[in-house]
Amino acid sequence: MPRFRNLIDPSDFSVDELYELVADAQKIISSPDNFKHVADGKILASLFYEPSTRTKFSFDSAMLRLGGQVIGFSDPSTSSTAKGETIADSAKTVSQYADIIVVRHPKEGTARLMSKFADCPVINAGDGGHQHPTQTLTDLLTIMSCVGRLDNLSVGVCGDLKFGRTIHSLVTCLARFPRNRFVFISPDELSMPAYVKETISKHGVEFCETSDLEGSMPQLDILYMSRVQRERFVSEEEYLRLKDYFILTAAKMQCAKPDMIVMHPLPRVNEIATEVDSDPRAKYFEQVRFGMFIRMALIMKLLNL
Ligand code: CP
Repeated sequence: MPRFRNLIDPSDFSVDELYELVADAQKIISSPDNFKHVADGKILASLFYEPSTRTKFSFDSAMLRLGGQVIGFSDPSTSSTAKGETIADSAKTVSQYADIIVVRHPKEGTARLMSKFADCPVINAGDGGHQHPTQTLTDLLTIMSCVGRLDNLSVGVCGDLKFGRTIHSLVTCLARFPRNRFVFISPDELSMPAYVKETISKHGVEFCETSDLEGSMPQLDILYMSRVQRERFVSEEEYLRLKDYFILTAAKMQCAKPDMIVMHPLPRVNEIATEVDSDPRAKYFEQVRFGMFIRMALIMKLLNL
């Protein structure tokens, strides 16, 4: 048995545990005052080797709202990484000070590597173009709160399916719930990686691939938009060619069902016109707030609070 529960990949939690976490977050939303002191005396280390607004601040505010404290950096050049310290030694060291570590890193697999050396639980806050499991927890809470179920959903994921780690985590996770099906909407150059398609095929999940956003919309319960991930492109020219391939507008929203919801992990660049923000089906800013509550529930779970 591992010494600690970590969250590196959404598959680290069973489907029952995912339902429990969503229910715990909903309890926190209903009665936040009941949770103000559950992490008194605990310290979260927030190690961000890559930029972040939502993930960093939602973890920081989650720990503070539970009564705990936060240490860490958002600029690795201020840490001993700049002197050549290894990830393994950093993990071992930081876990002498903190009760739980949250790490974001541009290199795939870093959070897992840290978890092998840390003397406390490690949470993957995004590893390169691979996975972003706490965004998936945020998405599950958003879907449950706005749609009322996590199964029997027709989900369109649109944009940069190649590099979008939030998409990889969400699709492989939702594939474990019954009767979910997917429409992968992207240009050929940014299509879903084979490993994701193989993983969901093992669950017998239906999916199709297209570059037709408007034609796909009428069948969807959820449209999950994503940014073209400039930082993962080798060629700036290629990025510029693809960055505005899909732009969701108010006119395109007329193709959608009246109860379809629009989600986006954010940040947005140009892929959703701001005119869509006032459509009641646009849930991406509510999604931001749900992210804090689910991270409160996650910290409590991993620290056995
Ligand atoms: N959704 C998300 O990961 O946003 P940040 O990059 O701002 O953390």
